[in-house]
Amino acid sequence: MNVKKIRLVNFRNFLDTSLDFDDSINIFIGNNAQGKTNILESIFTLMRGSSYRTIDDQDLIFWNKEMGYLLGEVYQNEEIFHVHILLQNRKNSFSQSNFQKKFIQVNKKLQKKSWLLEKFHPVVFTPEDLQIIKSTPSIRRRFLDEVVVNLYPVYYQYLRDYHHILFQRNTLLRKEKNQNEIDRQLSIWDNKIIDLGALIILYRVKVLQKLNQKAKIFHQLITENRETLKLKYHSTILTSYKDEKEEISKIMEFKIKNSREKDFKLKTTTVGPHRDDYFVMDNEVDLGTFGSQGQQRTAVLSLKLAELELFKEKDNEYPPLLLDDVMSELDMERKSFLVRLIKERKMQTFITSIGLDDLTQGCIGNQAKVFQIKMGRVES
Ligand SMILES: Nc1ncnc2c1ncn2[C@@H]1O[C@H](COP(=O)(O)OP(=O)(O)OP(=O)(O)O)[C@@H](O)[C@H]1O
Ligand SMILES: [Mg+2]
Repeated sequence: MNVKKIRLVNFRNFLDTSLDFDDSINIFIGNNAQGKTNILESIFTLMRGSSYRTIDDQDLIFWNKEMGYLLGEVYQNEEIFHVHILLQNRKNSFSQSNFQKKFIQVNKKLQKKSWLLEKFHPVVFTPEDLQIIKSTPSIRRRFLDEVVVNLYPVYYQYLRDYHHILFQRNTLLRKEKNQNEIDRQLSIWDNKIIDLGALIILYRVKVLQKLNQKAKIFHQLITENRETLKLKYHSTILTSYKDEKEEISKIMEFKIKNSREKDFKLKTTTVGPHRDDYFVMDNEVDLGTFGSQGQQRTAVLSLKLAELELFKEKDNEYPPLLLDDVMSELDMERKSFLVRLIKERKMQTFITSIGLDDLTQGCIGNQAKVFQIKMGRVES
């Protein structure tokens, strides 16, 4: 899967810029605040319909412009997809409510964002990804949930429906005073929450296991067998590994019923996948709590490479890899390992960096296409 070209019009700090990419390594160099990350973001947005840096599409439009758009060509399994994304500034709307802000077209046909979500799976790696290991459970869950959605798009619906029902259940617990009414309504909500909750846990456990298998191998290669990576699902429902939905449902039913009293008292749902977490362990030690910065970074690198392998298995082709400022943070050995892997597996890669020094040391040599970025323009 390759992005051949892209045109950014009023996208972030680019007024109108067209870029032709190499199938192999593309490097964007320039000083701080010139637009390097904005280009990676445009590639990601072209493929996923929204950014990984903001939830508000409006942030993507050049300040005060009426609209911004992206046009690009993505090649997948010898098919070409002409993708066009138009973003309109909501300030121009007269009636706010039904104003459509975003249009996605693929090969001249209007499509929903879900079309892109099912089709393209670029992998981004930024220094903030260390949060996957050391941040709060909700950030960790988000990483896992995103991998699951990429592999099984239907999971997106399960998650959305689960959170919808969870919201209703929690509102009931908070507002309703009549105990009989609470009991009556809970018996309805609980069947649904158990069904969806069990599905969510099932998908998470399965994907975590797949990620674990791949990441473990990369981790061993990078650390020359000194360290063993393990991902461990930590659940408010399961106490041991289960991969049958019926079994998970039964346990969840038992746990939900058992925690009713606590839920009444705390006026919220205290068990379920929304409270679950996972640990990234290295030789049985939790890296989130005890890992050094370098160990955490290596673990994230292994996880990202595992993600690429899983998407490759799904699509028969490696997705593009977007590396934002990560090269400068890796030591020589890890940098060379990564570059070797990118070349061996022929993955299209986009790298941002302040200069070329770190990268040439990482053995990229002169086999990359280099773009010099200055104040929202490409200089060469
Ligand atoms: N919607 C927007 N309209 C115009 N400019 C914007 C918009 N959003 C961000 N910018 C500007 O784009 C500039 C470049 O941002 P970007 O994050 O791409 O820099 P960078 O080259 O990656 O820098 P660094 O090396 O610091 O990471 C920033 O100065 C920012 O203020
Ligand atoms: Mg940047």
